[in-house]
Amino acid sequence: MRVAGLIRAAAFIFTLVAMWVFLRTYTSFSRKTIRLPRWLGMAPKEIRVPNTKCGLSKLCPDNFFAFKISSGAANVVGPSMCFEDEIIMSPVRNNVGRGLNIALVNGSTGHLLRKGSFDMYSGEPQLLLNFLAEIPDSTLVLVASYDDPGTKMNDKIRMVFTNLGSSYANQLGFRDSWVFLGAKDLKNKSPFEQFLKNTPETNKYEGWPELLELEGCVPRKVF
Ligand SMILES: *[C@@H]1O[C@H](CO)[C@@H](O)[C@H](O)[C@H]1NC(C)=O
Repeated sequence: MRVAGLIRAAAFIFTLVAMWVFLRTYTSFSRKTIRLPRWLGMAPKEIRVPNTKCGLSKLCPDNFFAFKISSGAANVVGPSMCFEDEIIMSPVRNNVGRGLNIALVNGSTGHLLRKGSFDMYSGEPQLLLNFLAEIPDSTLVLVASYDDPGTKMNDKIRMVFTNLGSSYANQLGFRDSWVFLGAKDLKNKSPFEQFLKNTPETNKYEGWPELLELEGCVPRKVF
């Protein structure tokens, strides 16, 4: 009786250990060690995180760039943009502002060219027009709204965004939420865009619609 009990206990413990070893081996297959993002300002340290750039839900194929863009939440939390695992604009980096936040990326190398925040409530729209007039060919254009992207919007600016592939720039208004990735020489509409109108009846926050998130893999321009 005693021996049978001991054997049963030993078998139980053996099963637990085998299961633990199996789970450890299995889960380490799907994980990979990478470095902490630079903006955290810590010494590089290896941590275990899922193996996707910008925390995307899927891996991007070769010759595609991973990106994730979030609009601001009401007038409280600023927007953020990640490109190829680098946070290029965010409240933590302290380089975003109310209005439209725009980053220009070289479509073949993925390198950041320029970025800027444009106050669309009380700012000077000509500053945004000047910025948009100097977009080089084959450039990817990432845009995130914060608080109010619409008050100082004008037809010239709408036209530039429409030519970059936007479907919603022509109706962008006061306190709408907007996230967009377009390109300088895009012939068609960009598939990367989300838009929510400021509608008091359905707004998530009192005076603003919900924040928007856009993520995906954008093809590298290969010459
Ligand atoms: C983008 O990168 C390509 C390849 O390095 C380069 O030839 C081109 O001049 C770059 N464009 C800009 C605007 O920097």
